[in-house]
Amino acid sequence: MATEERTNVPVHVSMIMDGNGRWAKERGKERVYGHFEGVGSVRACVEAAVETGVRYLSLYAFSEENWNRPEAEVKTLMGLMVKAMADEMDELDRNGVRFMVIGNRERLDKDLNDVVDACMARTAGNRTLTLIIFLSYSGKWDILQAAKKMAVKMLENPEKADEILDMGVEGFDRYLATAGIPDPDLIVRTSGECRLSNYLLWQGAYSELLFVDTLWPDFRKDEFRKALEYYAKRDRRYGKVK
Ligand code: IPE
Ligand code: IPE
Ligand code: MG
Repeated sequence: MATEERTNVPVHVSMIMDGNGRWAKERGKERVYGHFEGVGSVRACVEAAVETGVRYLSLYAFSEENWNRPEAEVKTLMGLMVKAMADEMDELDRNGVRFMVIGNRERLDKDLNDVVDACMARTAGNRTLTLIIFLSYSGKWDILQAAKKMAVKMLENPEKADEILDMGVEGFDRYLATAGIPDPDLIVRTSGECRLSNYLLWQGAYSELLFVDTLWPDFRKDEFRKALEYYAKRDRRYGKVK
């Protein structure tokens, strides 16, 4: 449970974890060294989220486009995820963290899918914090798979066609890979890049965006708290006049 008194805490904080390669390069090391250090930032943000009372923390860990990176880097990243999930599972469970992975899991290797399944099953009943790792994910993929699911439902249940065509935004939400998860209140991107890189395109429609220069391996608890302070001062108007 939250240990800090805070006001205006975002329910869902999302991170585009960027800058691992540059962090390593600055130190004259291989890019993968930055990915290894980045795991420490994930741990720090999970702890900070629990301490500040954030209920959902989501992390963009690997995009659909990242499959186009050199094979060796992809292999190292996937191996790193298997190890990190296996190593952290006990601690996550002890801290009441529910673990989820969202993305095109068909593209993941069996060993990774197995550890994801084990971690999700083990922590399914936890509710202090929901930690979502977006893996092999893209916003356009998500919207497209939702539209296809709807189309299939309509073909298989022609009597439901009117109901489906009358559906509003909330109805469509239920077909997305993020069904049941509140939209992110705050999306933070590290490393100074100011773009979404095909992340939560539908779900981020009204998210507050924060772009920070800090490289992901340096984004630790203090940075997380600073991001929450920034968010607390934002005036969310949703198109209305206040
Ligand atoms: C983010 O760091 C990690 C992933 C996208 C997997 P990068 O690997 O993109 O690091 P930079 O942007 O090249 O510094
Ligand atoms: C975005 O980072 C994807 C993730 C953080 C997983 P990238 O480094 O892949 O994004 P671009 O290529 O700079 O847009
Ligand atoms: Mg990058």
